Amino acid sequence: MSVPITNTVYVLNGPNLNLLGMREPDIYGSETLDDIAGMLEDRGRELGLDIDLRQSNHEGHLVDWLHEAQAEGAKAVLLNAGAYTHTSIALLDAIRAIRTPVIEVHLSDPSTREEFRHLSYVGMAAIETVQGLGAQSYSVALDAAAKL
Ligand code: DQA
Repeated sequence: MSVPITNTVYVLNGPNLNLLGMREPDIYGSETLDDIAGMLEDRGRELGLDIDLRQSNHEGHLVDWLHEAQAEGAKAVLLNAGAYTHTSIALLDAIRAIRTPVIEVHLSDPSTREEFRHLSYVGMAAIETVQGLGAQSYSVALDAAAKL
């Protein structure tokens, strides 16, 4: 059974992103996750989208929230899975298991960093990737979600 699609965009954040602002600011910038939430809510108002932003350090929570996004008829998911991007077949399977479009987001550009960050399981299933723009990566991804 398919549920009606809503105007809500889930913005799911993985491990260590709760520390944004003080975590390696030279790589990730000085904006906190709250700052990013505020920026997305402002942009979401302009686009007619509601933002449901969450963060967890636990892989299974992200899997559960991907399932929930589909069950609740989310328009799209923006997913910054942090380091699970590079390790999690469970997230790859979850993205493949749902029909909700998922856009991969990163503040930094993992493809220019250590080799172990070059592989992205999330990217294998996401419809698009936005990376390397700092906090603006989220905003650009939200604009892409609005066009779906
Ligand atoms: C990140 C990039 C990942 O490689 C890293 O593990 C993170 C943050 C980013 O937003 O740039 O935790 O996803």
